[in-house]
Amino acid sequence: MKPPPSTVFPVLFCLFIIVFFFSILISADISPGSTLYAANPNQTWNSPNTTFSFGFISSGGGAAFFAAITYNGIPVWIAGASDLGGGASDSSASLQFLADGNLRLVNGSSSTAVVWQSNTAGHGVSSAALHDSGNFVLRNATVSVWSTFDNPTDTILPSQNFTVNKVLRSGLYSFSLLSSGNLTLQWNNTILYWNLGLNLSITNNVSLTSPSLGLQSIGILSVFDPSISNPVIIAYSSDYAEGSDILRFLRLENDGNLRIYSSARGSGTITERWAAVSDQCQVFGYCGNMGICSYNQSNPICGCPSLNFDPVDPNDGRKGCKRKVEIADCPGSATMLELDHAMFLTYAPELASQVFFVGISACRLNCLVSGSCIASTSLADGTGLCYLKVPNFVSGYHSPALPSTSYVKVCGPVIENPTPSVGIAEGKGSGLHAWIVVIVVIGTILGLVVLEGGLWWWFCRNSPKFGGLSAQYALLEYASGAPVQFSYNELHRATKGFKEKLGAGGFGTVYRGVLANRAVVAVKQLEGIEQGEKQFRMEVATISSTHHLNLVRLIGFCSEGRHRLLVYEFMKNGSLDSFLFTTEEQSGKLLNWECRFSVALGTAKGITYLHEECRDCIVHCDIKPENILLDDIYNAKVSDFGLAKLVNPKDHRYRTLASVRGLEGIWHQNGLQICQ
Ligand SMILES: *[C@@H]1O[C@H](CO)[C@@H](O)[C@H](O)[C@H]1NC(C)=O
Ligand SMILES: *[C@@H]1O[C@H](CO)[C@@H](O)[C@H](O)[C@H]1NC(C)=O
Ligand SMILES: *[C@@H]1O[C@H](CO)[C@@H](O)[C@H](O)[C@H]1NC(C)=O
Ligand SMILES: *[C@@H]1O[C@H](CO)[C@@H](O)[C@H](O)[C@H]1NC(C)=O
Ligand SMILES: *[C@@H]1O[C@H](CO)[C@@H](O)[C@H](O)[C@H]1NC(C)=O
Ligand SMILES: *[C@@H]1O[C@H](CO)[C@@H](O)[C@H](O)[C@H]1NC(C)=O
Ligand SMILES: *[C@@H]1O[C@H](CO)[C@@H](O)[C@H](O)[C@H]1NC(C)=O
Ligand SMILES: *[C@@H]1O[C@H](CO)[C@@H](O)[C@H](O)[C@H]1NC(C)=O
Repeated sequence: MKPPPSTVFPVLFCLFIIVFFFSILISADISPGSTLYAANPNQTWNSPNTTFSFGFISSGGGAAFFAAITYNGIPVWIAGASDLGGGASDSSASLQFLADGNLRLVNGSSSTAVVWQSNTAGHGVSSAALHDSGNFVLRNATVSVWSTFDNPTDTILPSQNFTVNKVLRSGLYSFSLLSSGNLTLQWNNTILYWNLGLNLSITNNVSLTSPSLGLQSIGILSVFDPSISNPVIIAYSSDYAEGSDILRFLRLENDGNLRIYSSARGSGTITERWAAVSDQCQVFGYCGNMGICSYNQSNPICGCPSLNFDPVDPNDGRKGCKRKVEIADCPGSATMLELDHAMFLTYAPELASQVFFVGISACRLNCLVSGSCIASTSLADGTGLCYLKVPNFVSGYHSPALPSTSYVKVCGPVIENPTPSVGIAEGKGSGLHAWIVVIVVIGTILGLVVLEGGLWWWFCRNSPKFGGLSAQYALLEYASGAPVQFSYNELHRATKGFKEKLGAGGFGTVYRGVLANRAVVAVKQLEGIEQGEKQFRMEVATISSTHHLNLVRLIGFCSEGRHRLLVYEFMKNGSLDSFLFTTEEQSGKLLNWECRFSVALGTAKGITYLHEECRDCIVHCDIKPENILLDDIYNAKVSDFGLAKLVNPKDHRYRTLASVRGLEGIWHQNGLQICQ
C-alpha cells in the first residue's frame, strides 16, 4: 500500500533538518575571513559541544589581552606565548583568520603590528575548527596543515601527541622529550635540572624509534613508541581514574616545575596532582640570580644570602639579589660569607676547571684568591667535591637537611641576615613576627650577659688577680699538651649536624659525636658566651690542664666566629640524675649501696681536687646530679667545671656547699643492683 503523498514531504523535511544540524555539529567550521576582537570578549570560536573555546582573555585588570583556547576560563594554549612578549596585546587587538589561510594576532588596526601568526598562507588552507579535544586545526581540502596540538605552548591535553621535536616553554624554562625517551627540564636552554630516563627493564633495552608522550584522560602520563609493545608509564596523577567529567592536563609552570592538574567541568579551578620536581627549590634559578631558596612551614620562599645584598625587586623575591657593593669596587677587602646547609645548584655542564677534590677550607680559599670566582660550594656529601662558580648565574638552595657548606664572595664586613631565612617575599604579619623573635633573642642574650657579668663580679670582686689574668695565663695559651683545636665544620661533621642531643645544661646543649679517629665524644655548644677569643682560649687552657680521675677530661675546643664549643670525653652511663630520680618501674637503673658510696666518694675527690688541691683552683658553683657523670664502670666524674670563671679559693670554697643540694638523693632510695 502506498502512503498518501501528503505524508511523504514532512518525513523528508524532518530528515533534511536532522542531517543539516548533524553536519553543523560535526564540522562547526570557521571560514576564512572570520575575525575575533579583544574589545568583544563574548565573541568566541567554540568546540562543537562547547567544552573548549577560542577567544580573548585579559589579565592584570584589562592591561593585557591574550588570544587563548580555554576550558572553563582556564587557558590551555596561548597564541605567541613562547615568543618574547608572551603573546600580550591590548584591547585594540584582533585575531584574524585571513582569506589566504594565515591565522594571525594583530595589535591595533595596523597590519604591521603582528604579535603572532601561524605562517600558513599559501598552503591551501580552506577551513579552521576547534575540536572537542581542545585541538584547533587549520585544514586544506585533505589534511590538517597546522594545529595547536602540533604547536603547543605550555600545556599538553589528553589525546595530544607530544613528540621529540616539540617543546613546552614558560619564561626561561623548557620541557622536551629526547629521542632516547628521556624527559628533561631545562633553564635558559643550557642548564639541565631534571632528567628522567625510561626504566630500561621495561623497554628491554631496545632503542626507541619515534617516542611520543601522551596523557590519558584518566590521568596516566606515558611514553609510547612503535618498537615497544606497552607504553612506559611515567606518572599517575594522584586522582587517576577517579571522578567523572574531569579534565586533566600537563603544564610547565612559570616556576619551572612540570605538573599534572585536574579540573572538574564547570569549576574553573585547577588542583595539582603530580609535580616532576618534588622539591621546588631544586628548580634552577627559581629565586633568580644570587637568590637563595628555602622553605617556610609550607612554601618555597626566596631570600638573599646576607644583608650585603639587596633584592632586585622588593615586591618579587624571585627576581634575585644584587650586591650592595660590587667586588670590583672593594679591592683587597673581599671576604667569604659562610652559608651553612646551603648549596649553589651546580649541574652539568659545569666546566671541569671549576670542580675540585678538596676540603671545605681549601674550597673557600680557592675561591677567595681566584679573581674569577664569586661563590663556592663544598657538597660535603661524601663525594669530596668542591664547586667554584664564575660570574654568570648563581642559584642557591638552603635547607637544614643539606650537608653542604657554601661561601659567597662579598665586600667586607659580612652583615648576616637578622633571623634565619626571613624571606623577602614574606608579608607584614610575618615581618612583625620576625621582629618579636629578634627582640626575644636579643633580650635573652643580654640577660645571659648580665647574669654572666654578675657571676663574674660576685666571684672575682675580692680577687687580686682580677684584671691581671692575661699576664698570668698568656703563656698557657699555646702550651704543650694543649687541647686540640677543631674547626666548626669538623665538629659539625662529627656530630652529623648536631643531631644526637645528649642533654642541655646551664651553659649549652651537649651532642654526641664521633671524631675522625673513631673516638666517641660529647660536644658542648656553649650559648650566650660573649667572650673574646683570647679569654676563651685561656679558660680552655686552664680547664684542660686540670686532670683528675674524677673530672671529665676536656679533649678539645672550637672557637670560630660566634661558635664556642668544648669537646669532652664521652661518658657511657650518662649523668647521675637519671639514676637517682628514676622510678621503681625503670629499676634496672637503680644503684646498689656500694656503688652509691663510691659515686659520692669519687664526686667528693673530684671537687676537693678542683677546689683545694689543684694549682689553679676552680670553684665549681654548680654541683648537682646532672653534672656528675658516670663512665662505663660507674666511676663518678665531675663535669662543667671552669665554666663559671676562675675564683680565689680562700673566699669561696664554702659557698659551693649550698649547691650540693640534690646529692642527698643518693642515700634516700632503696637501691637495687647495678654497678659491678
Ligand atoms: C599595542 O599597540 C598599542 C598602540 O597601538 C601600543 O601602545 C601597545 O604598547 C601595544 N601593545 C603591545 C603588547 O604590543
Ligand atoms: C594539502 O596540504 C598538503 C600538505 O601541505 C599537500 O600535500 C596537499 O596537496 C594539499 N591539498 C590541497 C587540496 O591543497
Ligand atoms: C565533549 O566532547 C568530548 C570529546 O568527545 C567529551 O570528552 C566530553 O565529554 C564532551 N562534553 C560534553 C558536555 O558533551
Ligand atoms: C604520535 O605521532 C608520531 C609521529 O607523528 C606517531 O608516530 C605516533 O604513532 C603518534 N602517537 C600516538 C599515540 O598517536
Ligand atoms: C641565557 O642564555 C643566553 C645565551 O645563551 C645569555 O645571553 C643570557 O644572558 C642567559 N640569560 C640569563 C638570565 O642568564
Ligand atoms: C637518560 O637518563 C638516564 C638516567 O635516567 C641517563 O643515564 C642517560 O644518559 C640519559 N640519556 C640521555 C640521552 O640523556
Ligand atoms: C623498572 O621496572 C622493573 C619491572 O617493572 C621494576 O622491578 C624496577 O623496580 C623498575 N626500576 C626502576 C628504577 O623504577
Ligand atoms: C610561607 O610563605 C608564603 C608565600 O610567601 C605565605 O603565603 C605563607 O603564609 C607563609 N607561611 C608561613 C607559615 O609562614
